[in-house]
Amino acid sequence: MKKNPIGVFDSGYGGLTVLKEICATMPEYDFIYLGDNARAPYGPLPFETVYQYTLQCVKWFFEQGCSLVILACNTASAKALRNIQQKDLPNIDKTKRVLGVIRPTSELIGTFTNTKHIGILATVGTVLSESYLIETNKFFPEIAVVQEACPEWVELVETGKQNTAEADFFVKMHLDKLMEKDKNIDSILLACTHYPLLIKKIKEHAAPGIKIIEQGKIVATSLQKYLKKHEKIDNKCSKNSSRFFFTTGKKQDFDSHASLFFGEQVNVTEIIDINIKPTYTNGLKIL
Ligand code: DGL
Repeated sequence: MKKNPIGVFDSGYGGLTVLKEICATMPEYDFIYLGDNARAPYGPLPFETVYQYTLQCVKWFFEQGCSLVILACNTASAKALRNIQQKDLPNIDKTKRVLGVIRPTSELIGTFTNTKHIGILATVGTVLSESYLIETNKFFPEIAVVQEACPEWVELVETGKQNTAEADFFVKMHLDKLMEKDKNIDSILLACTHYPLLIKKIKEHAAPGIKIIEQGKIVATSLQKYLKKHEKIDNKCSKNSSRFFFTTGKKQDFDSHASLFFGEQVNVTEIIDINIKPTYTNGLKIL
């Protein structure tokens, strides 16, 4: 049987924080990473647009031979995963699998809190989808969950401003707003793959004793368990410890940013021959 790498997808760089933990947990597996940088951020985009973009990228992974694709992006997991799993996969190829990051996180989230009050920080899209409220309620109905969208945070990270006074301002503002919604919160989930890059500021401005939960390790452990349980899928995954990186954006930008997220230098390939159309015309983003 032909074996292929596992696909890891994000709207841009953020998924590299997840891939980093997956590689640490499962170093022997091969991975292909695709960042849709040309069309990021996904956070403010309408549901249908995120779905269409994500589906195009998933199909691209299938063309590369991947049998398993991880949507390492909360916004894509919230707004595209269900449609892809239920509507598209049965028509494209029933043997392929696409998994997201919200379910594995929700399965564990209740184990972090003593007060049974959790705060979620995420993009506008993830917050509006209410996916975390719905999924957490399935596994931990006794836990109260409140959300806060942090629309400026992705841009702060993308533009390398995570150690600036601007970052202090917006990090403090959203943490304060979250805590105003529920003063009993003792654990805060960073439900956006970019936010771990702001962890220093988040810890500085969070009230003492609040646990800050990152997703990377949770997703990595869950994937490892999934592959142990699903031998047929595991047998289709190649294991030569290789990592390949692709972007719909510019190589120079990706290579210079990626090490911040991935923890080591990467050498990305620009995708030009993909069913992905440019989304900027005269500086305007077409939604
Ligand atoms: N990677 C996305 C997430 O985890 C955030 C970045 C974006 O808005 O595209 O939600």
